[in-house]
Amino acid sequence: MYNGLKNRDFLTLAEFTREEIQLMLDVAAHLKSRFKMGERVIPLLPGRHLAMIFEKPSTRTRVSFETAMKELGGDVIALHSSEMQLARGETIEDTARTLSRYVDGIVARVYEHRKLEKLAEYSSIPVINGLSDLHHPAQGLTDVFTIMEKKGRDISKLKIVFVGDGGDNVAHSLMLAVGLLGGKLVISSPKGYDPHPSVVKLFNETAVKYGGSFEIERDPWRAVRDADVVYTDVWVSMGQESEREKRIRDLEPYRVTSLLMRQAKPDAIFMHCLPAHRGEEVTDDVIDGKWSVVWDQAENRKHVQKSILALLIP
Ligand code: CP
Ligand code: NVA
Repeated sequence: MYNGLKNRDFLTLAEFTREEIQLMLDVAAHLKSRFKMGERVIPLLPGRHLAMIFEKPSTRTRVSFETAMKELGGDVIALHSSEMQLARGETIEDTARTLSRYVDGIVARVYEHRKLEKLAEYSSIPVINGLSDLHHPAQGLTDVFTIMEKKGRDISKLKIVFVGDGGDNVAHSLMLAVGLLGGKLVISSPKGYDPHPSVVKLFNETAVKYGGSFEIERDPWRAVRDADVVYTDVWVSMGQESEREKRIRDLEPYRVTSLLMRQAKPDAIFMHCLPAHRGEEVTDDVIDGKWSVVWDQAENRKHVQKSILALLIP
């Protein structure tokens, strides 16, 4: 197997070429089909261990990485940062050096993206981003996997629309994933909720050369017209709780309702990384309705992460 990915970190999707992203997606599809045919364990990582560090809560990331690693024949140690010496002042650098002597890879969910970069700098093993304030690359890769599964491999002709907070970690990774595959993301967000400048810079340095582009459309009704894919995420991400009232007020016109979905193509799909705040960014009739692919999308996290683990962990 091509192993140019062995020992690499997975902090943002911009670190990978289009070919490498495509390889991760192809391996994920292969592993998913074998899983569906009943092959529950494919021992590509026997005896390997993965440490997972969580500074914030998680349901999907934790359980999908844990089951993925175990189904690859490896094992996992999941820790909340509050139960580690990190909580008593041990540095990220020393934590990285120590864990590198025990395990073969680290998944970390952190508040500040900078912390992940430091963890990766001082680790001799792959560090995988399990969500930071700026990026959620395992989610972004899963999202394009799901879009291709539902709409075909060439996503460059699709109208993919993210409605809500354009500065959201999930929006950023979706933008990079779509862009690296030569597609276009329409972001429908109010003023003050545009993608973070550091992500726009990364996008311009990487996705643009593959034909990727993005556009901001303030009017959600115009944005969603004839869309193939409508995506949203929570309005208040973990760590933004103090801005809750303002965010709800500003983002209210961007709620994905069935009326908004009717502007999209009749066979459009609705996506959400979950957890959803039902009644806020999306109504029940959309997330539970005919457009919704959110459960397949959630399942795909496991298949896609198996691919990431199998390709990166030595
Ligand atoms: N989508 C996602 O990462 O979910 P969790 O916060 O439950 O891990
Ligand atoms: N944007 C959300 C995603 C959760 C998976 C958050 O950061 O809380």
